Amino acid sequence: MLIFLDTANIDEIREAASLGVISGVTTNPSLVSKEATADYETVVKAICSIVSGSVSAEVLAEDAESMVEEARVKASWAPNVTVKIPITADGLKATSTLSKENIKINMTLCFSVNQALLAARAGAAYVSPFVGRLDDIGHDGMELVSDIVEMYGYYELPTKVIAASIRHTLHCVTAARAGADIATVPYKVLMQMINHPLTDTGIARFLEDWRRVSQ
Ligand code: E4P
Repeated sequence: MLIFLDTANIDEIREAASLGVISGVTTNPSLVSKEATADYETVVKAICSIVSGSVSAEVLAEDAESMVEEARVKASWAPNVTVKIPITADGLKATSTLSKENIKINMTLCFSVNQALLAARAGAAYVSPFVGRLDDIGHDGMELVSDIVEMYGYYELPTKVIAASIRHTLHCVTAARAGADIATVPYKVLMQMINHPLTDTGIARFLEDWRRVSQ
């Protein structure tokens, strides 16, 4: 499973990229709006100068024609931009058009297997089931990821599954178990993935033992 970083914060992206473990970045309008330079183009271009893998930038238009125009502009910002489009009827129309132009689309706000099937049929490169938001309303978000992975496998659909709306480290473990192609994780969760108390106590004990013989 690849790891994408789910943020528009340049400092977090720089720090995570330096670990050499992230393969892409996902943004959305809410994440970009939190940044000091809340200008989507500036933020995405800055991210693309740090990360060579897929960087998702979301459209704000709601009708198919405007989505297509906006997606073409966003895709021109850098060669690694993936355009995020929500799964609506207009989103599917726009994705069908754009995928034929070889513009990579990440169909977002996916909450059902049917939506994921339609996203794949429209030619989306990625689909993003939102795990945390389903958990929030008492559904099992990871079961959706697992069902989509199984369905795509059964029909050999090439769309990659991004487990999104990840809230904690256990989500990363269960996404990997479910066979998600990618988990897009907030910076805080990525940092928590590194930590284990036994690693810390193990290092302390090694150093203590070494100091005893080297004094
Ligand atoms: C990423 O593609 C999504 O936009 C993001 O994971 C949503 O996360 P949230 O549900 O925590 O806002």
